[in-house]
Amino acid sequence: MITQELEEVLITSTEIDSRIKQVAKTISMDYGHLENTPLVLGVLTGCIHFYSDLTRRFKFPIITEFMAVSSYGDMIESTGRLEIIKDIKDSLLLNRDVLIVEDIVDTGLTLIMLKQMLISRGAKSVKIVTLLDKPAKRKFDIEPDYCCFKVPDKFVVGYGLDYKGLYRNLPYVGVLKEEIYKE
Ligand code: IMP
Repeated sequence: MITQELEEVLITSTEIDSRIKQVAKTISMDYGHLENTPLVLGVLTGCIHFYSDLTRRFKFPIITEFMAVSSYGDMIESTGRLEIIKDIKDSLLLNRDVLIVEDIVDTGLTLIMLKQMLISRGAKSVKIVTLLDKPAKRKFDIEPDYCCFKVPDKFVVGYGLDYKGLYRNLPYVGVLKEEIYKE
């Protein structure tokens, strides 16, 4: 099923599957020997398929949690506000190694603020794994610790990523035609 609203398929479901296998293996090597069970924190809603496919390949126990956040930024001052729509308990974070699971890192605003907030609430360490990274759009000094694919400066949808709530269920990542979002 290739939707007419797409310019092209950027990453096929086979490519996603095999890359997730590799990244899950690397993360399992890094997190497999921790004393305490790490908290794997999905950022809703874009992480849904990625979270599920990635964590089912981990070779170590995890605590599964999700947050929903929205970021508003002042690009000039490099400051922003993080609105928390769905939160987790502080007691879950205290002295815990946290792995954030994100769909895409764009300007980096969401992740820089989320990471700061988790550390200020007591997390022992915070790392980031992202399905996609759009480095051309970066405005904040943050890099994911693990990344599956770098993508060009185009609006992408599918495999969890949306435009106005649509396209999240596509099994691949595609480039949305400009005419769809520039109407
Ligand atoms: P950032 O705070 O600018 O890094 O934005 C991160 C959020 O913007 C992601 O979690 C996505 O929800 C959204 N986003 C950024 N680029 C895209 C895209 O190309 N397609 C769909 N959502 C995107």
